[in-house]
Amino acid sequence: MNEESRLAGAEAQTEQQPEKDYSKYFEHVYQPPNLKDAKKRGKESIQYHNDFTIEEKYKGLGRGRKFFIRTYGCQMNEHDTEVMAGILEALEYTATNDVNEADVVLLNTCAIRENAENKVFGEIGHLKHLKLEKPDVLIGVCGCMSQEESVVNKIMKSYQNVDMIFGTHNIHRLPAILEEAYMSKAMVVEVWSKEGDVIENLPKVRTGKIKAWVNIMYGCDKFCTYCIVPFTRGKERSRLPQEIISEVRDLARQGYQEITLLGQNVNAYGKDIEGLDYGLGDLMADIQKIDIPRVRFMTSHPWDFDDRLIEVIARGGNIMPHIHLPVQSGNNEVLKIMGRKYTRESYLQLVEDIRRALPDVALTTDIIVGYPNETEEQFLDTIDLYERVGFEHAYTYLYSPREGTPAANMQDNVPMREKKDRLQRLNKVVEHHTEHKLASYLGQEVLVLCEGPSKKNDAILAGYTDKSKLINFAGPLDAVGKIVRVRVTETKRYSMNGELIEIIEPVEVAN
Ligand code: 5AD
Ligand code: SF4
Repeated sequence: MNEESRLAGAEAQTEQQPEKDYSKYFEHVYQPPNLKDAKKRGKESIQYHNDFTIEEKYKGLGRGRKFFIRTYGCQMNEHDTEVMAGILEALEYTATNDVNEADVVLLNTCAIRENAENKVFGEIGHLKHLKLEKPDVLIGVCGCMSQEESVVNKIMKSYQNVDMIFGTHNIHRLPAILEEAYMSKAMVVEVWSKEGDVIENLPKVRTGKIKAWVNIMYGCDKFCTYCIVPFTRGKERSRLPQEIISEVRDLARQGYQEITLLGQNVNAYGKDIEGLDYGLGDLMADIQKIDIPRVRFMTSHPWDFDDRLIEVIARGGNIMPHIHLPVQSGNNEVLKIMGRKYTRESYLQLVEDIRRALPDVALTTDIIVGYPNETEEQFLDTIDLYERVGFEHAYTYLYSPREGTPAANMQDNVPMREKKDRLQRLNKVVEHHTEHKLASYLGQEVLVLCEGPSKKNDAILAGYTDKSKLINFAGPLDAVGKIVRVRVTETKRYSMNGELIEIIEPVEVAN
């Protein structure tokens, strides 16, 4: 993005003010978020930029200084952290794992549920000590929570130890925001409520050398009635196919063994690019031709899951036989109120279509329990659907009202203790299935990407099977970063143990 368009963007942003105007307290950058604007979806097409550079005046800003980033939430946030680390290193900051050593501390936050937000406020509170001991340290809050008006107002009111707040659309502005924070005594707040464009050449420091995240699109236009993501991440913006393919080729050349294609709703890939008749199925078919051993994708929405995609996944090759397909509820009335745009029947039909093409697929899901006014019968429909599909695993959540979303305004007659009781009952069903599925692997040989020593025991190696099951086994360090064949000797509730049969040495192929 050039300086002119940046400034134009900045002007457009400063025109909007929140109901309570704090701007008079701030001499420097003050651009607060606005939920109403975040909800608007403009018709203008997305501009793609390839011209990110560190401006001369910011070069060396981090020389002799260290940074620490704490990441909350989903893979999208983890990947954003890699980009922020890339920008900070380009400014000559060095990374530290010890928050007490850091000169810049960033909290990359998650807004999806209230407890995620509470954790962040707890951490900001803890950092007050650091600020007292080291007054020069810069503390920044970024990520999804920064896109919420109420959060920004709360931080400004009660957490004066925070120096910077910036959002998900202006990560590339980090050099300017840091410089501003060094100069200013006041809190620097720069949050763009309308999404930015797609900037292709931001630097990244990937956390691993074996597995990598690859963004294929940003934002979400689905507006499920409970979800804050369309407000915090903006409208759907797909990256151009050639950019994604060249990133994947590059990762393959660097020796990465697994990539995960990321988006809030990857099945909508390409639909926002005018005149492009190319969807996720086409993209995956092109990535199938690249010599990278493992390809995964997340998160899918059942609504856009088309036959072309099923056909491409069924071809196998480097596409792993695991699909995470959030269902949220097994009851049609609840699905309707959630705005999910599919029914219990159409979801079950999709599962059948997927299984017909890929009989051995592993399906996992997300479920929300205790939606406003959910009845016992409606909840039992969810349990029934879970049993019918026989998911391998599920992430289950208690519904958490998010300010600004339609569901947050609904009357709710379900007592909390009942919601918690339902969650416990669902979790029992989930655990039972997870354990049972794992037990079915006993004695089988599985292919595993060995990621390194296990978290609990240095002498043991660990990795994930093609269907994303954690397995531990004894073996030489030489196996790390390679696909290995392992026989399952013991299964537990969430993981398995096995014995190494062979290390599959990679064959050199030009990408
Ligand atoms: N309350 C509870 N769970 C939620 N999720 C999204 N929004 C909420 C909310 N307000 C869950 C959904 C989604 C997952 C990432 O988080 O199940 O798929
Ligand atoms: Fe949220 Fe629904 Fe979009 Fe998923 S598809 S990010 S649940 S609005």
